[in-house]
Amino acid sequence: MSNHIFINSKINNFKKKISVASDKSISIRSILLASQAIGISKISNLLESEDVLNTLKAIKKLGIDYKKKGNSYYIEGFGLNNFNIKKATTINAGNSGTLARLILGLLVKSKFKIKLVGDKSLSKRDFSRVIKPLRIFGVNIRSNNDSLPLEIIGTDFLRPISYREEIGSAQVKSCIIFCALNTPGLTLINAKRSRNHTELMLKSLDYPIKVKSKKNIDKISISGLGQMKAFDYFIPSDISSAAFFIVLTLLSKDSEIIIKNVNINQSRTGIIKILNRMGAAIKLKNKKIYRGEHTADIFVKSSKVLRGINCPSSLNSSAIDEFLIIFLVAAKAKGISTFKNLAELNKKESPRLNIALQFLKMIGIYVERKKDDIKIYGNPKLNITKKIQIKNYLKDHRVFMMSCVAALTFGGNWKINDKDSIKTSFPSFLKILKSLGAKIN
Ligand code: S3P
Repeated sequence: MSNHIFINSKINNFKKKISVASDKSISIRSILLASQAIGISKISNLLESEDVLNTLKAIKKLGIDYKKKGNSYYIEGFGLNNFNIKKATTINAGNSGTLARLILGLLVKSKFKIKLVGDKSLSKRDFSRVIKPLRIFGVNIRSNNDSLPLEIIGTDFLRPISYREEIGSAQVKSCIIFCALNTPGLTLINAKRSRNHTELMLKSLDYPIKVKSKKNIDKISISGLGQMKAFDYFIPSDISSAAFFIVLTLLSKDSEIIIKNVNINQSRTGIIKILNRMGAAIKLKNKKIYRGEHTADIFVKSSKVLRGINCPSSLNSSAIDEFLIIFLVAAKAKGISTFKNLAELNKKESPRLNIALQFLKMIGIYVERKKDDIKIYGNPKLNITKKIQIKNYLKDHRVFMMSCVAALTFGGNWKINDKDSIKTSFPSFLKILKSLGAKIN
């Protein structure tokens, strides 16, 4: 079957209420923590995308059983590090940096050698950021050039660490927290602020973890070797998936959308702050709190006037997965937009900063780059009439979805490759687009 799509016309106006994919970060964390809790946890509304299914496969390989009934997964854990393996094992994290980096923190006491592998994109990503702290704990890791494949050999002699996490990476922070769960004593992390789903989930399970926040630093302390009882968790929708529909609506004419029950944790809502500063009027209604996580319905209307932004880099971490789609708004806005310190964007599933620049130039937008800072010269009259082909060599799901939104709002004749990439995070993406009236072949 062909793995590309054609889009040859802009989307007509729409007025709809939709639900988007469940949150990927929370789905992966809920499975990994359920595998460490005692008893049967019930995870409802889990995201059934490849990254999450690979997480289920990984715990199964480690001897943890699960069953699906209706909209819920039942996962039976036996407590911290009570995996049931009898020989060396390989875990394939596929495309998922989150699975690969977080699970390492749970494998630190394994009696058998565990090999961690991933797909072409994941194998290009940097693992020194987690190998370094794990080695300070006393974990034995072998790798080639700090990338996958790598091997981890567990130890009973872990010592707590005090670590400064300076990247602002939730994956690194969570890997350290997971290793700390297995380590006697108190582990301390001074972490540059990033998404805090791991901390909130552990707190909601009454695990001894404390967080004190000052400016953009979270001081986290975790007591090792505590216990977690099995739990129930209902996963809300993912703002990173909602992002594509927020921008589609902003850039379409006379349209409105309501996106139901989306996670609006402060550490994830940079896109809303950025777009509202650019002239959008995105509203959050029906707010709720569940297990420390905030949710809301997101209301968006087409925007008549969008203006450039001088984006403060303090918002980078809370919009880290959304920059590609935010750049489309900058392309159509009046005036110049500047975004700074975006080095981390090049460390994602593909080098997204480089790709965004190529993409914007290809659609006729003038861009300037100085190291990791970019300037986008917006063109409110942007209207594409030429043929465009998107090759997406590392099959980055967010590059595919961003290209679809560009095609449906800027016009032109598009061939977009690697449709299958959406299975990573948002398998129903094209179906929802079609339900809004998008013509996709
Ligand atoms: C994630 C953290 C972020 C994000 C990724 C998911 C997580 O990565 O880009 O998609 O679930 O912890 P970094 O920790 O590398 O910033």
